[in-house]
Amino acid sequence: MKKKKVNAAGFTWAGAISFFILIAVVMQFAILVYDYIIERTDNVTFIAILILVEIIIIATLCTIFDWVRRKLTVEKPTNKILMATEKIAEGDFSSKLEITHEYSKYNQYDLIMENINKMAMELQKNEVLKTDFISNVSHEIKTPLAVIQNYSMLIQDDNLDSETRKSYAKTLISASKRITDLITNILKLNKLENQQLQEKYEAFNLTEALSDCVVEFETIIEKKNLVLNCDFDDVFIFSSKSLLEIVWNNLISNAIKFTPENGKIDIFLKRLENNVEIKVSDTGCGMSSETGMRIFEKFYQGDTSHSTQGNGLGLALVKKVIDILGGEISVQSEINKGSTFTILLKDVVYEN
Ligand SMILES: Nc1ncnc2c1ncn2[C@@H]1O[C@H](COP(=O)(O)OP(=O)(O)OP(=O)(O)O)[C@@H](O)[C@H]1O
Ligand SMILES: [Mg+2]
Repeated sequence: MKKKKVNAAGFTWAGAISFFILIAVVMQFAILVYDYIIERTDNVTFIAILILVEIIIIATLCTIFDWVRRKLTVEKPTNKILMATEKIAEGDFSSKLEITHEYSKYNQYDLIMENINKMAMELQKNEVLKTDFISNVSHEIKTPLAVIQNYSMLIQDDNLDSETRKSYAKTLISASKRITDLITNILKLNKLENQQLQEKYEAFNLTEALSDCVVEFETIIEKKNLVLNCDFDDVFIFSSKSLLEIVWNNLISNAIKFTPENGKIDIFLKRLENNVEIKVSDTGCGMSSETGMRIFEKFYQGDTSHSTQGNGLGLALVKKVIDILGGEISVQSEINKGSTFTILLKDVVYEN
């Protein structure tokens, strides 16, 4: 970080010049008084007392001047900083220190105040994120928990036929799976954010890895009668296979989820010299540009009709992974026409 050049705290040119003039005037006056007296008397004791009085006056004047200077330039800003840090220590992050100097005239105190303001802002932002996170998680857990409670009671009815009992059991499994998925995603995201996920970089066949992921979704693609078109260049890359799996799984599952029956999904893998580009396109419900701007936020779900499926963490995870791997992700979408997610992985191509 580039350091800003600032004036020393407690020092001003006006103060220094005033102090210089004060000392010069007092000394001059003292010399004149001394000359005047010495011409008129030889009394050594009187001269000694006079010098002593002069020294006391000069010392007193200097002390008063220094006291005023300290009050204005040191104590005032120190007290301001003290009060603000006390408030922050008590958990009140809303206080903002007012900096009176303009930016080019900042001294060290102004810089400390600016840093305290930034610190308080960051703490306040974190506080908001924390409370939002807790309320989001509670909200996401509450719905499936209510389902579990209701259906656990219903399933106890002895008169239920086996078909209904089976369907209740299915609902219970899916609600508990929702909670498990939520916790798994939160833990993954947390690890990624704290850089605790040990990503293992290796050379691997991306074409194969992507194909393996697609195969996992075969049953559900068939169930929804979707047309799947894959066009993959053969490419080896040096990257993290396990982290990229998070990306492919989320993009493909979203494409399936947001595309109605009989729709179409295209997946392309293209080698561009040292980079690779992956596109996942669908002919699904699409999204507005406002939604498109927020889809990478944690817990954001633009499509409320699908909000019972998932928690809005998938793309937040995808974005985090792409950021860690130094790639780029973008989305193009049109409501009721479909969406295309494009990923660019830079300098990853591995020639063996
Ligand atoms: N292919 C897509 N077509 C249309 N909208 C999409 C598509 N992919 C994502 N979105 C929008 O982005 C939002 C966020 O997606 P994300 O994957 O983060 O959450 P989710 O799929 O709703 O839940 P989760 O991923 O936790 O299961 C979705 O709720 C949806 O509104
Ligand atoms: Mg998703």
